[in-house]
Amino acid sequence: MNKDLVIPKHIGIIVDGNGRWAQERGLSRSDGHKAGFDRLKEICLYAQEVGVSYLSLYVFSTENFKRDKKEVDYLMKLFVLLYKSEFKDFMKKNIKVVFSGRREPLPKDVLTSMDKIVEESKNNTGMVVNFCLNYGAKTEILDMTKRICLDVLDGKLKIEDITFDTLDEHLYQNLPPLDFVIRTSGELRLSNFMLYQASYAEFYFPKVYFPDFTKNEFMKAIVEFNKRNRRFGGNQS
Ligand code: FPP
Repeated sequence: MNKDLVIPKHIGIIVDGNGRWAQERGLSRSDGHKAGFDRLKEICLYAQEVGVSYLSLYVFSTENFKRDKKEVDYLMKLFVLLYKSEFKDFMKKNIKVVFSGRREPLPKDVLTSMDKIVEESKNNTGMVVNFCLNYGAKTEILDMTKRICLDVLDGKLKIEDITFDTLDEHLYQNLPPLDFVIRTSGELRLSNFMLYQASYAEFYFPKVYFPDFTKNEFMKAIVEFNKRNRRFGGNQS
């Protein structure tokens, strides 16, 4: 790796294209998700190796519950498998795992796996992986607003004291803003992913389907990020 490359502190990945990857190979959608799952783990470990501090992964949107029951059930099985078979490698690498999204209507075994992962990794000091699971940004903003209102009603917070820090503290996770958002498969949409946190992020849309998003593709993305001129609304070049 080129040592002069700037590594984005917080990267978001919209995992997309598992289904098309499978279809092109005459495989089932579940096979595509399994290939995506394996790739996701590889990318998590690699991101930590190259020095990423926060990695947010959009793996299941609130809208994904509208898919066929068979597909949803398979994805839920993978979320349980994450704890049962893969999580030990995250622990070995000192990775802290958190989740963003609503708990309802996730099945009990998924919630149990998520809780165990969070509890067991909470004191890890390496990269933070934020799985956006049953996540939607508009729902997050709605939930944040309700939490702030409750704090005001409970007398814990005065309206005049509400700042951007207050908003951050009431989101699902209080993470630094996204620097770089990658969406695989060539679709040019945010699809309700971390709208607030992505305010000044750079965007990158590689054409490859997620199961083909190799370490090499990840490095290509970092090289692309280094070509961008981030001005944050100012005019310095
Ligand atoms: C989008 O591809 C992918 C998903 C909706 C699921 C992503 C899930 C995984 C990578 C596996 C599970 C991960 C964990 C953390 C256990 P798509 O199905 O929308 O693809 P398509 O647009 O080609 O149909």
